Amino acid sequence: MNQAAFGPKKLVIIGSGVAGLCAALEATRLGAPVRLLTKLNLGDGNSTCAQGGLSAVIAQGLAAGDSVASHVTDTLRAGAWHGGEMAVQELCSSAADLVDTLEEYAVQFDKDSSGNYQLGLEAAHSAHRILHAGGDATGAGLVAALKQAVRSAQQAGQLEIVENALVTDLEFNGSAPCTVHYLQAEESQQLAADAVLLATGGLGSLYEASTNPHGATADGIGLAARAGAVISDMEFIQFHPTLVDPQLYPEAGMISEAVRGEGAVLINELGQRFMAEIDERAELAPRDVVARAIHAQYQAGHQVLIDARAVESRNGAGFLARRFPSITARLEACGLDMALAPIPVVAAQHYAMGGIHTDANGRTSVPGLYAAGECANTTVHGANRLASNSLLEAMVFARKAVHAMATDAPGQSCTLDDLVVNQLPAPETQAPLELPQLKVLANKHLGVYRTGSGLEELVAVLDSSTPVAQGERELAELGNLYTCARMIAYAARQRTKSLGAHHRVDADGEGAAENNVRYGWVLEAAQP
Ligand code: SIN
Repeated sequence: MNQAAFGPKKLVIIGSGVAGLCAALEATRLGAPVRLLTKLNLGDGNSTCAQGGLSAVIAQGLAAGDSVASHVTDTLRAGAWHGGEMAVQELCSSAADLVDTLEEYAVQFDKDSSGNYQLGLEAAHSAHRILHAGGDATGAGLVAALKQAVRSAQQAGQLEIVENALVTDLEFNGSAPCTVHYLQAEESQQLAADAVLLATGGLGSLYEASTNPHGATADGIGLAARAGAVISDMEFIQFHPTLVDPQLYPEAGMISEAVRGEGAVLINELGQRFMAEIDERAELAPRDVVARAIHAQYQAGHQVLIDARAVESRNGAGFLARRFPSITARLEACGLDMALAPIPVVAAQHYAMGGIHTDANGRTSVPGLYAAGECANTTVHGANRLASNSLLEAMVFARKAVHAMATDAPGQSCTLDDLVVNQLPAPETQAPLELPQLKVLANKHLGVYRTGSGLEELVAVLDSSTPVAQGERELAELGNLYTCARMIAYAARQRTKSLGAHHRVDADGEGAAENNVRYGWVLEAAQP
Protein backbone atom coordinates (compact mmCIF):
# COMPACT_ATOMS: atom_id res chain seq x y z
CA MET A 1 0.00 0.00 0.00
CA ASN A 2 1.26 3.49 -0.64
CA GLN A 3 0.37 7.01 0.16
CA ALA A 4 -1.30 7.64 -3.20
CA ALA A 5 -3.88 4.94 -2.44
CA PHE A 6 -4.93 6.82 0.69
CA GLY A 7 -4.63 10.42 -0.37
CA PRO A 8 -2.80 13.09 1.56
CA LYS A 9 -4.96 13.02 4.71
CA LYS A 10 -3.31 14.59 7.75
CA LEU A 11 -3.74 12.24 10.71
CA VAL A 12 -3.35 13.30 14.33
CA ILE A 13 -2.99 10.74 17.11
CA ILE A 14 -3.43 11.90 20.69
CA GLY A 15 -1.79 9.72 23.34
CA SER A 16 1.29 7.51 23.34
CA GLY A 17 0.45 4.34 25.23
CA VAL A 18 0.34 1.11 23.26
CA ALA A 19 -2.74 2.25 21.28
CA GLY A 20 -1.19 5.56 20.21
CA LEU A 21 2.22 4.03 19.44
CA CYS A 22 0.74 1.17 17.41
CA ALA A 23 -1.50 3.59 15.54
CA ALA A 24 1.44 5.83 14.69
CA LEU A 25 3.44 2.89 13.37
CA GLU A 26 0.50 1.65 11.32
CA ALA A 27 0.12 5.12 9.81
CA THR A 28 3.75 5.09 8.76
CA ARG A 29 3.23 1.64 7.18
CA LEU A 30 0.44 3.21 5.12
CA GLY A 31 2.59 6.21 4.24
CA ALA A 32 0.05 8.58 5.77
CA PRO A 33 1.30 11.93 7.14
CA VAL A 34 0.91 11.67 10.92
CA ARG A 35 1.52 13.72 14.04
CA LEU A 36 1.55 12.14 17.48
CA LEU A 37 0.69 14.43 20.41
CA THR A 38 1.24 13.24 23.95
CA LYS A 39 0.67 15.10 27.20
CA LEU A 40 3.79 13.80 28.94
CA ASN A 41 6.87 12.20 27.41
CA LEU A 42 6.53 9.63 24.65
CA GLY A 43 5.29 6.34 26.13
CA ASP A 44 4.46 7.69 29.59
CA GLY A 45 1.12 6.47 30.90
CA ASN A 46 -0.91 3.51 31.96
CA SER A 47 0.29 0.98 29.35
CA THR A 48 3.76 0.97 30.88
CA CYS A 49 2.25 -0.17 34.20
CA ALA A 50 0.53 -3.26 32.75
CA GLN A 51 1.97 -6.28 34.46
CA GLY A 52 0.22 -9.54 33.56
CA GLY A 53 0.32 -9.66 29.81
CA LEU A 54 -1.36 -9.95 26.48
CA SER A 55 -3.97 -12.64 25.88
CA ALA A 56 -3.69 -14.33 22.49
CA VAL A 57 -4.50 -17.73 21.01
CA ILE A 58 -1.39 -18.36 18.93
CA ALA A 59 -0.32 -21.48 17.03
CA GLN A 60 1.31 -22.92 20.14
CA GLY A 61 -1.96 -22.55 22.07
CA LEU A 62 -3.98 -24.09 19.23
CA ALA A 63 -1.63 -27.09 19.25
CA ALA A 64 -2.27 -27.47 23.00
CA GLY A 65 -6.06 -27.51 22.49
CA ASP A 66 -6.93 -23.83 22.99
CA SER A 67 -9.13 -22.06 20.43
CA VAL A 68 -10.18 -18.58 19.37
CA ALA A 69 -13.78 -19.66 20.06
CA SER A 70 -12.85 -20.40 23.64
CA HIS A 71 -11.16 -16.98 24.03
CA VAL A 72 -14.33 -15.41 22.63
CA THR A 73 -16.53 -17.29 25.10
CA ASP A 74 -14.28 -16.45 28.06
CA THR A 75 -14.35 -12.76 27.09
CA LEU A 76 -18.13 -12.66 26.74
CA ARG A 77 -18.72 -14.66 29.93
CA ALA A 78 -16.37 -12.48 32.04
CA GLY A 79 -18.18 -9.46 30.60
CA ALA A 80 -21.53 -10.77 31.93
CA TRP A 81 -22.67 -11.34 28.30
CA HIS A 82 -22.90 -7.59 27.79
CA GLY A 83 -20.05 -7.47 25.26
CA GLY A 84 -20.61 -7.03 21.54
CA GLU A 85 -20.17 -10.45 19.96
CA MET A 86 -18.87 -9.27 16.58
CA ALA A 87 -16.31 -6.98 18.19
CA VAL A 88 -15.14 -9.76 20.53
CA GLN A 89 -14.78 -12.12 17.59
CA GLU A 90 -12.67 -9.50 15.81
CA LEU A 91 -10.55 -8.98 18.92
CA CYS A 92 -9.75 -12.62 19.55
CA SER A 93 -9.23 -13.61 15.93
CA SER A 94 -6.80 -10.71 15.37
CA ALA A 95 -4.56 -11.59 18.32
CA ALA A 96 -2.13 -13.98 16.60
CA ASP A 97 -1.47 -11.54 13.76
CA LEU A 98 -0.86 -8.78 16.30
CA VAL A 99 1.71 -10.93 18.10
CA ASP A 100 3.57 -11.45 14.77
CA THR A 101 3.57 -7.70 14.14
CA LEU A 102 4.84 -6.99 17.65
CA GLU A 103 7.71 -9.38 17.11
CA GLU A 104 8.55 -7.45 13.93
CA TYR A 105 8.81 -4.40 16.21
CA ALA A 106 11.26 -6.39 18.37
CA VAL A 107 8.97 -6.98 21.35
CA GLN A 108 10.63 -9.74 23.40
CA PHE A 109 7.94 -12.01 24.82
CA ASP A 110 9.19 -14.49 27.43
CA LYS A 111 10.10 -17.87 25.93
CA ASP A 112 11.53 -21.09 27.34
CA SER A 113 14.89 -22.57 26.37
CA SER A 114 13.28 -24.33 23.38
CA GLY A 115 11.95 -21.02 22.06
CA ASN A 116 8.33 -21.69 23.04
CA TYR A 117 6.27 -18.89 24.52
CA GLN A 118 5.75 -19.14 28.27
CA LEU A 119 1.97 -18.92 28.30
CA GLY A 120 0.48 -17.85 31.63
CA LEU A 121 -2.97 -18.34 33.12
CA GLU A 122 -5.13 -15.55 34.53
CA ALA A 123 -8.56 -15.32 36.09
CA ALA A 124 -11.55 -16.47 34.01
CA HIS A 125 -9.39 -17.75 31.12
CA SER A 126 -10.04 -21.41 30.34
CA ALA A 127 -6.52 -21.97 28.98
CA HIS A 128 -2.94 -20.79 29.40
CA ARG A 129 -2.84 -18.02 26.77
CA ILE A 130 -1.19 -15.00 28.38
CA LEU A 131 2.02 -13.87 26.70
CA HIS A 132 4.24 -11.81 28.94
CA ALA A 133 7.50 -9.90 28.75
CA GLY A 134 10.12 -9.39 31.43
CA GLY A 135 8.13 -11.76 33.67
CA ASP A 136 5.67 -9.20 35.00
CA ALA A 137 6.63 -6.10 33.03
CA THR A 138 4.69 -6.73 29.84
CA GLY A 139 3.45 -3.17 29.38
CA ALA A 140 6.92 -1.72 29.92
CA GLY A 141 8.40 -4.21 27.43
CA LEU A 142 5.80 -3.40 24.80
CA VAL A 143 6.07 0.35 25.24
CA ALA A 144 9.88 0.28 25.11
CA ALA A 145 9.93 -1.65 21.82
CA LEU A 146 7.14 0.37 20.19
CA LYS A 147 8.70 3.62 21.33
CA GLN A 148 11.98 2.61 19.75
CA ALA A 149 10.20 1.86 16.46
CA VAL A 150 8.35 5.18 16.61
CA ARG A 151 11.57 7.11 17.31
CA SER A 152 13.18 5.41 14.29
CA ALA A 153 10.22 6.44 12.13
CA GLN A 154 10.56 9.98 13.46
CA GLN A 155 14.26 10.03 12.57
CA ALA A 156 13.36 8.78 9.09
CA GLY A 157 10.98 11.75 8.77
CA GLN A 158 7.90 9.52 8.62
CA LEU A 159 6.10 11.09 11.56
CA GLU A 160 6.19 14.08 13.90
CA ILE A 161 6.03 13.85 17.67
CA VAL A 162 4.82 16.67 19.91
CA GLU A 163 5.53 15.90 23.59
CA ASN A 164 4.22 17.62 26.74
CA ALA A 165 1.19 18.78 24.78
CA LEU A 166 -2.15 18.61 26.60
CA VAL A 167 -4.98 18.73 24.08
CA THR A 168 -7.71 21.00 25.44
CA ASP A 169 -10.28 21.03 22.64
CA LEU A 170 -11.21 19.56 19.30
CA GLU A 171 -13.15 21.78 16.96
CA PHE A 172 -14.98 19.96 14.18
CA ASN A 173 -16.64 22.03 11.48
CA GLY A 174 -18.65 19.76 9.25
CA SER A 175 -16.35 18.08 6.77
CA ALA A 176 -13.63 20.73 7.08
CA PRO A 177 -10.43 19.67 8.90
CA CYS A 178 -10.60 19.57 12.67
CA THR A 179 -8.68 22.15 14.70
CA VAL A 180 -6.78 20.57 17.57
CA HIS A 181 -6.13 23.03 20.42
CA TYR A 182 -3.38 22.19 22.88
CA LEU A 183 -1.28 23.63 25.67
CA GLN A 184 2.47 23.27 25.53
CA ALA A 185 4.75 24.98 28.05
CA GLU A 186 1.73 27.05 29.16
CA GLU A 187 1.29 28.38 25.60
CA SER A 188 -1.91 27.76 23.60
CA GLN A 189 -1.20 26.15 20.24
CA GLN A 190 -3.30 24.68 17.46
CA LEU A 191 -2.98 22.50 14.41
CA ALA A 192 -5.27 21.18 11.69
CA ALA A 193 -6.12 17.52 11.10
CA ASP A 194 -8.27 15.60 8.65
CA ALA A 195 -8.81 12.80 11.15
CA VAL A 196 -8.05 12.56 14.87
CA LEU A 197 -7.52 9.42 16.94
CA LEU A 198 -8.02 9.68 20.70
CA ALA A 199 -5.83 7.15 22.50
CA THR A 200 -5.53 8.90 25.84
CA GLY A 201 -6.09 6.01 28.26
CA GLY A 202 -8.08 5.78 31.47
CA LEU A 203 -9.69 7.73 34.25
CA GLY A 204 -8.13 6.34 37.44
CA SER A 205 -7.35 9.79 38.85
CA LEU A 206 -11.04 10.10 39.61
CA TYR A 207 -10.59 7.66 42.51
CA GLU A 208 -8.66 7.83 45.78
CA ALA A 209 -7.31 4.30 45.27
CA SER A 210 -6.40 3.33 41.72
CA THR A 211 -3.75 1.24 40.00
CA ASN A 212 -3.44 3.97 37.34
CA PRO A 213 -0.78 6.70 37.27
CA HIS A 214 -1.83 10.30 38.05
CA GLY A 215 -2.01 11.26 34.38
CA ALA A 216 -5.09 9.05 33.85
CA THR A 217 -7.54 11.96 33.81
CA ALA A 218 -10.19 10.91 31.28
CA ASP A 219 -8.89 13.41 28.73
CA GLY A 220 -10.19 11.55 25.69
CA ILE A 221 -13.67 11.15 27.14
CA GLY A 222 -13.83 14.85 28.04
CA LEU A 223 -12.59 15.96 24.61
CA ALA A 224 -14.90 13.62 22.72
CA ALA A 225 -17.94 14.56 24.83
CA ARG A 226 -17.34 18.26 24.24
CA ALA A 227 -17.00 17.55 20.51
CA GLY A 228 -20.49 15.98 20.64
CA ALA A 229 -19.52 12.29 20.61
CA VAL A 230 -21.61 9.62 22.30
CA ILE A 231 -20.00 8.01 25.36
CA SER A 232 -21.30 4.58 26.40
CA ASP A 233 -21.25 1.92 29.15
CA MET A 234 -19.84 4.37 31.69
CA GLU A 235 -21.34 2.56 34.70
CA PHE A 236 -18.89 -0.31 34.26
CA ILE A 237 -15.73 0.46 36.21
CA GLN A 238 -13.36 -2.40 36.99
CA PHE A 239 -11.72 -2.76 40.40
CA HIS A 240 -8.52 -4.81 40.51
CA PRO A 241 -8.57 -7.23 43.45
CA THR A 242 -4.97 -6.93 44.58
CA LEU A 243 -3.54 -3.44 45.02
CA VAL A 244 -1.17 -3.63 48.00
CA ASP A 245 -3.03 -1.69 50.72
CA PRO A 246 -2.07 1.91 49.85
CA GLN A 247 -2.80 3.10 53.40
CA LEU A 248 -0.04 0.80 54.66
CA TYR A 249 2.35 0.76 51.69
CA PRO A 250 1.60 3.67 49.34
CA GLU A 251 4.49 2.86 47.01
CA ALA A 252 4.04 -0.91 46.71
CA GLY A 253 1.59 -0.89 43.77
CA MET A 254 -0.40 -3.73 42.32
CA ILE A 255 0.15 -7.48 42.48
CA SER A 256 -0.67 -8.97 39.09
CA GLU A 257 -3.48 -11.43 38.65
CA ALA A 258 -0.81 -13.70 37.16
CA VAL A 259 0.37 -14.31 40.74
CA ARG A 260 -3.02 -15.89 41.48
CA GLY A 261 -2.70 -17.63 38.11
CA GLU A 262 0.40 -19.34 39.52
CA GLY A 263 -1.62 -20.47 42.54
CA ALA A 264 -1.54 -17.70 45.16
CA VAL A 265 -4.67 -17.55 47.32
CA LEU A 266 -6.60 -14.86 49.16
CA ILE A 267 -7.02 -15.13 52.92
CA ASN A 268 -8.26 -12.89 55.70
CA GLU A 269 -6.26 -12.00 58.81
CA LEU A 270 -7.55 -15.20 60.47
CA GLY A 271 -5.90 -17.22 57.68
CA GLN A 272 -9.30 -18.22 56.24
CA ARG A 273 -9.72 -18.58 52.47
CA PHE A 274 -13.04 -17.12 51.39
CA MET A 275 -13.17 -17.29 47.58
CA ALA A 276 -13.91 -21.02 47.24
CA GLU A 277 -17.30 -20.65 48.90
CA ILE A 278 -18.25 -17.73 46.65
CA ASP A 279 -17.31 -19.09 43.22
CA GLU A 280 -16.18 -22.49 41.98
CA ARG A 281 -13.25 -20.81 40.23
CA ALA A 282 -12.19 -19.46 43.64
CA GLU A 283 -9.33 -16.91 43.31
CA LEU A 284 -9.53 -17.25 39.51
CA ALA A 285 -13.14 -16.07 39.29
CA PRO A 286 -13.66 -12.94 37.14
CA ARG A 287 -12.29 -9.74 38.63
CA ASP A 288 -15.66 -8.23 39.54
CA VAL A 289 -16.54 -11.31 41.61
CA VAL A 290 -13.19 -11.33 43.45
CA ALA A 291 -13.23 -7.55 44.02
CA ARG A 292 -16.72 -7.74 45.57
CA ALA A 293 -15.67 -10.61 47.84
CA ILE A 294 -12.65 -8.63 49.06
CA HIS A 295 -14.78 -5.56 49.64
CA ALA A 296 -17.25 -7.65 51.62
CA GLN A 297 -14.45 -8.98 53.84
CA TYR A 298 -13.41 -5.41 54.69
CA GLN A 299 -17.00 -4.42 55.33
CA ALA A 300 -17.23 -7.31 57.78
CA GLY A 301 -14.19 -5.93 59.62
CA HIS A 302 -11.56 -8.27 58.18
CA GLN A 303 -8.28 -7.58 56.44
CA VAL A 304 -7.46 -9.36 53.15
CA LEU A 305 -4.05 -10.70 52.18
CA ILE A 306 -2.63 -12.47 49.14
CA ASP A 307 -0.68 -15.57 50.15
CA ALA A 308 1.88 -16.81 47.61
CA ARG A 309 4.04 -18.83 50.01
CA ALA A 310 2.85 -22.20 48.70
CA VAL A 311 3.67 -21.12 45.11
CA GLU A 312 7.26 -20.57 46.20
CA SER A 313 7.53 -23.87 48.07
CA ARG A 314 5.95 -25.83 45.19
CA ASN A 315 8.28 -24.34 42.57
CA GLY A 316 11.43 -23.98 44.63
CA ALA A 317 13.15 -21.06 46.31
CA GLY A 318 13.54 -18.02 44.09
CA PHE A 319 10.62 -18.88 41.78
CA LEU A 320 8.53 -15.80 42.62
CA ALA A 321 11.50 -13.46 42.21
CA ARG A 322 12.29 -14.97 38.80
CA ARG A 323 8.70 -15.06 37.53
CA PHE A 324 7.70 -11.67 38.98
CA PRO A 325 10.88 -9.60 39.17
CA SER A 326 9.27 -6.14 39.08
CA ILE A 327 6.64 -6.92 41.71
CA THR A 328 9.27 -8.56 43.90
CA ALA A 329 11.55 -5.50 43.64
CA ARG A 330 8.73 -3.06 44.44
CA LEU A 331 7.66 -5.11 47.45
CA GLU A 332 11.25 -5.43 48.62
CA ALA A 333 11.62 -1.64 48.52
CA CYS A 334 8.71 -1.52 50.99
CA GLY A 335 10.19 -4.22 53.22
CA LEU A 336 7.82 -6.92 51.93
CA ASP A 337 8.51 -10.39 50.51
CA MET A 338 5.63 -12.43 49.11
CA ALA A 339 7.71 -15.62 49.29
CA LEU A 340 7.85 -15.25 53.06
CA ALA A 341 4.60 -13.64 54.19
CA PRO A 342 1.08 -12.81 52.95
CA ILE A 343 0.71 -9.23 51.66
CA PRO A 344 -2.28 -7.01 52.61
CA VAL A 345 -4.35 -6.03 49.58
CA VAL A 346 -7.48 -4.03 48.69
CA ALA A 347 -9.67 -3.83 45.58
CA ALA A 348 -8.87 -0.57 43.74
CA GLN A 349 -10.07 1.16 40.59
CA HIS A 350 -8.23 -0.30 37.61
CA TYR A 351 -10.03 0.09 34.29
CA ALA A 352 -13.01 1.68 32.55
CA MET A 353 -14.93 -0.76 30.36
CA GLY A 354 -16.97 2.06 28.83
CA GLY A 355 -15.80 5.16 26.99
CA ILE A 356 -16.12 6.90 23.65
CA HIS A 357 -18.51 4.73 21.66
CA THR A 358 -16.86 3.27 18.55
CA ASP A 359 -17.45 0.65 15.93
CA ALA A 360 -14.87 -2.06 15.23
CA ASN A 361 -12.95 0.42 13.06
CA GLY A 362 -12.54 3.01 15.78
CA ARG A 363 -15.11 5.37 14.28
CA THR A 364 -17.00 7.48 16.83
CA SER A 365 -20.35 9.18 16.31
CA VAL A 366 -18.51 12.35 15.15
CA PRO A 367 -17.15 12.15 11.58
CA GLY A 368 -13.38 12.55 11.57
CA LEU A 369 -13.03 11.54 15.23
CA TYR A 370 -11.75 8.05 16.11
CA ALA A 371 -10.85 6.41 19.42
CA ALA A 372 -8.89 3.38 20.60
CA GLY A 373 -7.58 1.90 23.83
CA GLU A 374 -9.06 2.43 27.27
CA CYS A 375 -10.74 5.74 26.40
CA ALA A 376 -12.79 3.94 23.71
CA ASN A 377 -15.72 1.59 24.07
CA THR A 378 -15.54 -0.95 21.27
CA THR A 379 -17.95 -3.00 23.47
CA VAL A 380 -15.52 -5.93 23.73
CA HIS A 381 -15.24 -5.79 27.52
CA GLY A 382 -18.96 -5.81 28.21
CA ALA A 383 -19.68 -5.23 31.89
CA ASN A 384 -16.34 -6.55 33.14
CA ARG A 385 -13.05 -6.92 31.27
CA LEU A 386 -11.31 -10.27 31.01
CA ALA A 387 -7.73 -10.14 32.32
CA SER A 388 -5.04 -9.24 29.77
CA ASN A 389 -7.53 -8.24 27.09
CA SER A 390 -6.78 -4.53 27.44
CA LEU A 391 -3.38 -4.37 25.72
CA LEU A 392 -4.78 -6.65 23.05
CA GLU A 393 -7.84 -4.48 22.45
CA ALA A 394 -5.83 -1.26 22.43
CA MET A 395 -3.47 -2.45 19.71
CA VAL A 396 -5.89 -4.46 17.54
CA PHE A 397 -8.40 -1.63 17.24
CA ALA A 398 -5.83 1.20 17.05
CA ARG A 399 -4.39 -0.40 13.92
CA LYS A 400 -7.83 -0.85 12.39
CA ALA A 401 -8.76 2.74 13.27
CA VAL A 402 -5.78 4.09 11.34
CA HIS A 403 -6.92 2.28 8.21
CA ALA A 404 -10.38 3.81 8.61
CA MET A 405 -8.90 7.27 9.26
CA ALA A 406 -6.87 7.06 6.08
CA THR A 407 -9.61 5.74 3.82
CA ASP A 408 -13.02 6.85 5.18
CA ALA A 409 -15.10 9.11 3.00
CA PRO A 410 -16.02 12.46 4.61
CA GLY A 411 -18.96 12.20 6.97
CA GLN A 412 -18.49 8.57 8.02
CA SER A 413 -19.29 7.75 11.64
CA CYS A 414 -20.30 4.74 13.75
CA THR A 415 -23.92 3.68 13.98
CA LEU A 416 -25.78 4.01 17.26
CA ASP A 417 -28.37 1.30 16.57
CA ASP A 418 -27.55 -0.77 19.64
CA LEU A 419 -27.65 2.14 22.08
CA VAL A 420 -30.19 4.00 24.17
CA VAL A 421 -28.72 7.51 23.97
CA ASN A 422 -29.52 9.94 26.80
CA GLN A 423 -28.68 13.59 27.14
CA LEU A 424 -26.56 14.72 30.07
CA PRO A 425 -28.10 18.01 31.19
CA ALA A 426 -25.86 21.04 31.68
CA PRO A 427 -25.02 21.58 35.40
CA GLU A 428 -27.04 24.39 36.98
CA THR A 429 -25.41 26.18 39.87
CA GLN A 430 -21.83 26.90 40.67
CA ALA A 431 -20.48 25.52 43.97
CA PRO A 432 -16.70 25.07 43.59
CA LEU A 433 -15.47 21.47 43.39
CA GLU A 434 -11.79 20.56 43.74
CA LEU A 435 -10.14 17.28 42.79
CA PRO A 436 -9.79 15.89 46.35
CA GLN A 437 -13.54 16.38 46.94
CA LEU A 438 -14.36 14.73 43.64
CA LYS A 439 -12.22 11.71 44.54
CA VAL A 440 -13.97 11.35 47.91
CA LEU A 441 -17.35 11.43 46.16
CA ALA A 442 -16.30 8.87 43.53
CA ASN A 443 -14.92 6.53 46.18
CA LYS A 444 -18.08 6.80 48.25
CA HIS A 445 -20.68 6.47 45.52
CA LEU A 446 -19.04 4.97 42.43
CA GLY A 447 -17.14 2.11 44.03
CA VAL A 448 -17.54 -1.66 44.11
CA TYR A 449 -20.97 -1.33 45.78
CA ARG A 450 -23.50 1.31 44.70
CA THR A 451 -26.92 2.36 46.01
CA GLY A 452 -29.76 4.24 44.37
CA SER A 453 -29.84 6.81 47.19
CA GLY A 454 -26.07 7.33 47.03
CA LEU A 455 -26.23 7.87 43.29
CA GLU A 456 -29.11 10.36 43.64
CA GLU A 457 -27.07 12.28 46.18
CA LEU A 458 -23.99 12.22 43.93
CA VAL A 459 -25.87 13.40 40.85
CA ALA A 460 -27.33 16.28 42.87
CA VAL A 461 -23.93 17.36 44.20
CA LEU A 462 -22.19 17.11 40.83
CA ASP A 463 -24.99 18.91 39.00
CA SER A 464 -24.60 21.88 41.31
CA SER A 465 -20.81 22.07 41.12
CA THR A 466 -18.18 23.72 38.99
CA PRO A 467 -14.65 22.29 38.85
CA VAL A 468 -11.98 24.63 40.16
CA ALA A 469 -8.20 24.17 40.08
CA GLN A 470 -5.09 26.31 40.01
CA GLY A 471 -3.48 26.33 36.60
CA GLU A 472 -4.93 25.87 33.14
CA ARG A 473 -3.60 22.32 32.78
CA GLU A 474 -4.99 21.18 36.11
CA LEU A 475 -8.35 22.77 35.35
CA ALA A 476 -8.54 21.06 31.96
CA GLU A 477 -7.80 17.67 33.52
CA LEU A 478 -10.25 18.20 36.37
CA GLY A 479 -12.93 19.26 33.88
CA ASN A 480 -12.46 15.97 32.03
CA LEU A 481 -12.70 13.95 35.25
CA TYR A 482 -15.79 15.90 36.29
CA THR A 483 -17.58 15.22 32.99
CA CYS A 484 -16.64 11.60 33.30
CA ALA A 485 -17.84 11.38 36.93
CA ARG A 486 -21.21 12.81 35.91
CA MET A 487 -21.55 10.27 33.13
CA ILE A 488 -20.69 7.39 35.45
CA ALA A 489 -23.12 8.68 38.08
CA TYR A 490 -26.00 9.14 35.61
CA ALA A 491 -25.33 5.77 34.00
CA ALA A 492 -25.06 3.95 37.33
CA ARG A 493 -28.29 5.58 38.51
CA GLN A 494 -30.08 4.60 35.33
CA ARG A 495 -29.03 0.94 35.51
CA THR A 496 -31.03 -0.13 38.52
CA LYS A 497 -30.03 -3.82 38.35
CA SER A 498 -26.59 -5.27 38.94
CA LEU A 499 -24.54 -6.36 35.96
CA GLY A 500 -20.84 -7.34 35.93
CA ALA A 501 -18.74 -4.71 37.65
CA HIS A 502 -21.78 -2.47 38.24
CA HIS A 503 -23.22 -3.74 41.51
CA ARG A 504 -26.35 -2.18 42.97
CA VAL A 505 -26.83 -3.38 46.54
CA ASP A 506 -30.39 -2.05 46.42
CA ALA A 507 -31.28 -4.13 43.34
CA ASP A 508 -33.74 -6.96 43.79
CA GLY A 509 -31.89 -9.41 41.57
CA GLU A 510 -30.69 -9.21 38.00
CA GLY A 511 -33.11 -8.25 35.22
CA ALA A 512 -32.17 -10.06 32.04
CA ALA A 513 -34.04 -7.80 29.62
CA GLU A 514 -32.66 -4.64 31.13
CA ASN A 515 -29.18 -6.08 31.27
CA ASN A 516 -28.99 -6.19 27.51
CA VAL A 517 -29.55 -2.47 27.16
CA ARG A 518 -26.49 -0.36 26.43
CA TYR A 519 -26.71 3.26 27.54
CA GLY A 520 -25.00 6.09 25.69
CA TRP A 521 -24.56 9.68 26.84
CA VAL A 522 -24.19 12.92 24.97
CA LEU A 523 -23.78 16.39 26.45
CA GLU A 524 -27.05 18.29 26.13
CA ALA A 525 -25.34 21.53 25.19
CA ALA A 526 -21.77 22.73 25.02
CA GLN A 527 -20.49 22.18 28.55
CA PRO A 528 -17.09 23.14 29.95
C1 SIN B 1 -2.77 -7.80 36.05
O1 SIN B 1 -1.62 -8.09 35.72
O2 SIN B 1 -3.35 -8.31 37.00
C2 SIN B 1 -3.49 -6.76 35.26
C3 SIN B 1 -3.67 -7.19 33.88
C4 SIN B 1 -4.95 -6.63 33.33
O3 SIN B 1 -5.41 -5.59 33.78
O4 SIN B 1 -5.53 -7.27 32.45
